[in-house]
Parts: sequence; structure tokens; C-alpha cells
Amino acid sequence: MKHQILVLAVTACLSTGLSAQDKTSVPQLGKASIDEVVAAMTVREKATLLVGDHEFDYYVNGTVKDEIPDIAGTSAAIPRVGIPVTYYTDGPAGVNIAPTRKGTDKTFYCTAFPVATMLASTWNPDLVLKVGEAIGNEALEYGCDIVLAPAINLHRNPLCGRNFEYYSEDPVLIGKTASAMITGIQSNGVGTSLKHFAANNQETFRRENDSRISQRALRELYLRGFEIAVRESHPWTVMSSYNLINGTAASENYKLLTTILRDEWGFNGFVMTDWMRLKIRDIAKQIHAGNEMMMPGYPEQIDDIVAAVEEGRLSEADLDLAVKHMLEVIVRTPRFKGYKFSNDPDLAAHAEITRTAANEGVILLKNEAGTLPLSDKGKKIALFGYGSYDLFAGGVGSGEVNAAKIVNIDEGLRNYGFSLNKELAAIYEGADGEIGISPAYAAMRAADSDIAIVTLRRTAGEYVDRRAIEGDFYLTKLEKDMLKNVSEAFRARGKKVVVILNTGGVIETSSWKEYADAILLPWQPGVEGGNTITDILTGKVNPSGKLTMTWPVEYMDIPSSKNFPYDFEGNSWKAGPVRDSFDPAKRNIGFTEYEEGIWVGYRYFTTYKIPVSFPFGFGLSYTSFAYSAPKVVAGKKGSFTATVTVTNTGKVSGKEVVELYVSAPEGGLEKPVMELKAFGKTGELAPGASETVTLTFTTDDLASFDESQNCWATDAGTYSIHFASSSDDIRESVPLKMRKRSVRTVLTKLD
Ligand code: BGC
Repeated sequence: MKHQILVLAVTACLSTGLSAQDKTSVPQLGKASIDEVVAAMTVREKATLLVGDHEFDYYVNGTVKDEIPDIAGTSAAIPRVGIPVTYYTDGPAGVNIAPTRKGTDKTFYCTAFPVATMLASTWNPDLVLKVGEAIGNEALEYGCDIVLAPAINLHRNPLCGRNFEYYSEDPVLIGKTASAMITGIQSNGVGTSLKHFAANNQETFRRENDSRISQRALRELYLRGFEIAVRESHPWTVMSSYNLINGTAASENYKLLTTILRDEWGFNGFVMTDWMRLKIRDIAKQIHAGNEMMMPGYPEQIDDIVAAVEEGRLSEADLDLAVKHMLEVIVRTPRFKGYKFSNDPDLAAHAEITRTAANEGVILLKNEAGTLPLSDKGKKIALFGYGSYDLFAGGVGSGEVNAAKIVNIDEGLRNYGFSLNKELAAIYEGADGEIGISPAYAAMRAADSDIAIVTLRRTAGEYVDRRAIEGDFYLTKLEKDMLKNVSEAFRARGKKVVVILNTGGVIETSSWKEYADAILLPWQPGVEGGNTITDILTGKVNPSGKLTMTWPVEYMDIPSSKNFPYDFEGNSWKAGPVRDSFDPAKRNIGFTEYEEGIWVGYRYFTTYKIPVSFPFGFGLSYTSFAYSAPKVVAGKKGSFTATVTVTNTGKVSGKEVVELYVSAPEGGLEKPVMELKAFGKTGELAPGASETVTLTFTTDDLASFDESQNCWATDAGTYSIHFASSSDDIRESVPLKMRKRSVRTVLTKLD
């Protein structure tokens, strides 16, 4: 490897006409100004820097030592001008590197934190920031410079395979959660890569698909979370998405990557492509557009850039600007600063953070007649469902984490002191997937156990979208029969059934929820899963998570379902993914019409009054909260401060999420009946205790996007500011008058 570096350095010297002796006078990054370094670099060196060097376990350009096995990517070193290699690791749920290495017994495990959807379900950015701090610390201590996270594409459709890596169907919740994650990670002096920019909402043909979206839906939904995160937390890098938007590839899109991202929002880092591998984009267009770095990089791309400059397809000014943007980030990295990483992050401390964060992200969906909590250690539990013994801590694909150990649900319950039915445990230990539970078997367990807990599990991930079929969005017959048989047997003896949903995404619940006395949604909770779930089941922790997306009655109730990559004929649903080869002219394959426009999630369900199984923002507690003294006060420069007092009116302590929705006055653009504009969470409130929650927003936050004038517009009139416990549980409302219409023009359209 050293040999290759030397060869590269010598070649570079020759091509600038410098002799080896002159090398000492070559401007060095960190000593000379960035402009001087750029001026001293050859075109080939510049091209080399813009092309990723290394991917997972194989070399691409070969300037990099194979120092971190399974690293997602690196930049190239240009030693002649003092540019070091920098390392980029996935991803949203924790650092993703190989846990073992050749020639050493030492392990390099990382913490699998709760998946992104679960972190967002905490509605607690302060807590997300702590998770970010821990992820950033693991990256730093394992020698990484940039974490390829957070991933913030909107939950447009529940079947997107990567929804577990994303936060929500609401852009404000996405933006605030992402800002906290970015701030936390970057507080370690390592960078983030906010991804996938933009409108990458399906996995099927994700490299080729054209997302066709109205300007309004783009601005209000698909770009808005990115806008909030970029403006508030300044990610070091952004990852452009594979897909096209309205006919132009995201990575070749000047309007997206320069006009909007830099000029409008003030982004000051660099943009890298998603992991293209195939030569499907025009490199000169990408660099001109403001997509500085090609990932994971392949050698021909260096030649392509050099040729593009020689042939005048790419100006040297564009090339220099791209290099400058990259160097401005590289000088901030631990590698550049010579940080001595330990390869020994404090995994035990991070497991604690995982448990605390996951505790706040668990959502209690149902709790009839105080079924939960089950604090009595003497209770004999019949634990059903394969997932009870083999939990999905996270999803699959680049967002996976190699953790040393996952605490399963059975282990968590045993840790607390419950006794689990041994025969049942033995049956599941011997199985390799879900098993049938007959009425007779359920009756035996109902006779010798006090309560049944049934876990249903689902996983999903990169490359494939989920399916609206049994075993994915819908329950299998085996699962439904299990629930029915267990429920009837236990209820016949006056005993209860608790259902645990171990899933990264939404599933159908309305057809079977009557079988459950309580339903707990711990998502994919990370390494401490079994302990987290036990904390909630036993009431050690009072649940305070709330849904970040709507759980519909049927899949086809979702407005985007007609335009998601599955065969759809009339009103009948043909199960199964589309397996055909790529066809640019084919709906949902070559292109996807976002026909539903802004009617995504609760914006649609609340406005059109469509029944749902569980609404956006919903989540129960073991206590109850009263809201009082709502107030909105105008401050300076169009800012508003909203306050409401929350009182714990129940018998145990707990936390409450306050959701601030706004209803706009009639007239002007058609608008959703309510939109989330701010949220906050109380601290732990003892029974009888109160806290005043303060939420802020601005006139601009109330704006809708007016396509006809290409501007954000906040209409004059009387708005209603709602303080709510969920999107279908508004507790207090106050009017807010806007005297005049205000407008904020944007710089471009993405059409
Ligand atoms: C994914 C990115 C990921 C990258 C590197 C891509 O296929 O879309 O999210 O960061 O691979 O693993």
C-alpha cells in the first residue's frame, strides 16, 4: 500500500512539473490556506479527492489502508498536499463496522441503538441528542470521521422498506429530531451525512425511479424536514439520493443541491452521492450541480473528471469549488487533527443510554381495565410468539449494527424475576420461526399461567419494499389463529393477553386488536430491547412514546397506496412486489406520481375524516394528564410563544408529550384541517404535579407553499392554535390573529 501512495505522490509531482525536492515547498493542508492548497493541486489530484477511495472490504482507488474492515467508504488521501484519508461509517441506528478483524482477538462491536422511528417516537429531542452523542463517540473512538446519518425521508407510505431508518410522516417532527441527532453526533467533532436528499420514498428501483411531485408537496413535506435540519444544525455533509425528481437526478440537480441547499438554506459542507456503483450519472453535471463527492467511487470516475475538464464539459472553477468544499470539511475531521482513537468506546455506558432512549420511545397502544403494568413478580407468564425469544433489535441493510449481544424479551422478563412457562420456552427454543398454537394447547397454558404475552415480529430494510400481504403488513393466518386461540383460552379463565409489536414499521391492527387486552409497541428497540420492554410492562417506566405516523385500518386507506410499486388494478389488491425489469415508462417503476400531493398521513385522515386504527401522535400512559391555561403571546420579529400547563391527574408519575397543531383560516389555498407546528415533553411529573410547557413558532412556520407565486405565504385571518395529546385529542385551543398576509419568496422551482 505504501508503495502505491508513493507512486501516486511521485506521479502527481511529475504532472505538476515539480521535482521531488520541491515537495517541501508544496502548500500543505492546515499550514497553507485552503485556496493555496487547491491552487497547488493537479487536476488529477482534485479528481482523485472527489472520488471515494474505498468501499467495504475492497479497494477502489487504493490510496487507503484497509484500516476499518467493512467501513462504508472513505475519501482518498493526497499526501503531497497533506490531505489525509477520512472514514465514513453507516448509519442511523449506530456505527456499522465489522465486529472482528484478522489477526486479533479484540472485538469491535458497536451499540445498536433504537431504530430511528423509535427515537422519533420519544418526541424528545434532548434524548435524541444524547443518543447522537453516544453514536458520535463510537464513531470517533473507532477512527471514523463521518456518520452516514440521520436518514430523514418522509414516511409517505408504510411499505417503504427503509421507514425504520426514517422518523415520521410529519416534516416538523422529522426536522427537529434530525437536528438533535446531528447536533449530538457532531458534538464529538465528527460529521454527519444527512440523507437521502431528496424524495427517496421507495426502495423498488430506487436508482432509476423518477419521483414526480408538485412544488407544494416538495416544499411542505419532502424538503421541509431537510430544511429545518440544515438551518438548525448544519450537518457537515448531505447525501444526495439515487432517484430523480421531476425528471432530473437528485445528484445532477443544481437547483436542489446549490440553489436550495446552499443559497436558500445556508448549507456549508459538501454533498456526496449515495452508493451508486453503476455508471448511471453524468459526473460533470454532478460536480457542477454541487455534488462534490462520488461514492463509493470507482477508478474510471477519476479519468472521467479529468477528461471532462480537458474537453471543457466541466470548468476548473467548478472543480476547484468542489475541492474547496471538501477540504473545508476535511480540516474539521479527527483524522486530519490526528486524534488518537482508542478502539474502545464505553459500550456499557451506551447500553444505558439505549435503554433510557428506548424507554421513552415505547408506545402503549391499548390498555383495557389496567391490564398493565404487571408489577407482581410472582406472576406466571406464558410467553408466546417467536419474537419473544428472538427479538429484532433493528432492521436490515446499511442501517444494521453489529452488536455484541441483544437482550431478548424472555431474558428481560427473567431478569426482573418473572417465571416463564418452561415448556413453552423449550418449544420456541427448538423452533426456527413462528409456530401454530392450537386452542387445546392455549387452554393448557391458560390453566397453569396467570397471563399471556404474545410477540409479533417484523423486519424490513434496504433494497426491498414491504408488501401489503399476509406476513408483512397483514398478519398471517398462523399469527391470527395464535392470537385468537390464546385470547379465548385466557379470557375463558378471566386472564389477560398482552400483545407486543416488535416491528420497524406499521402493520394492520384493526382486525385483531380485540383479542388483546393491552398492546405495546416497542418497535425495534436496540440492544437493551428485552429490558426496555420489561421496564414498561412492569411500570418501572411509565410509557410516554407517541406515534409518529398514522396506523390505518386497511393498507388501501393510505392515499399514496395507488402510487406505490405494486400491481394495482381497480380496487382489487394484487399481492406481491413488482419483479419486472426496469421500464422508464412504467408507473411506480420508472416513475412514481405523488398524486396525493400534500395529503399524506394525518393531513389526509383528519381533513377527510377517514377512520384509522391508531391516529398520529397517539400513545397511552399509566397516568392521565389535564391541560389548562393555554396561552399564545406574540414576540419580536414574527415569533410566538405558546404555553400550556400540564397536570398529572393520575396515580403514578409520568411524562406527557404536548402537540401543537395549527388550523389556518378559511380562504386562499386548500389546507389540511390541522398541521403540527411544534411539540414539547414534560419532565417526569409526580401525581398532582404540574408543569408549564413552552413551545415556540414563527409566522413563517404557519405558511403554506403557494405554487402560483413560488413563495411561502402566511395568510391573514384568525388561526386556531391547538394544544393536543394526539391528533384526535385536542385539549385546548386559542385563536391567533394575523393582521396581514406575509410572504417569503423562494429562489427556484424543482420542475
Ligand atoms: C444506502 C445509504 C448508505 C450507503 C453506504 C447505500 O446503498 O442507500 O444509506 O449510507 O449505501 O452503506
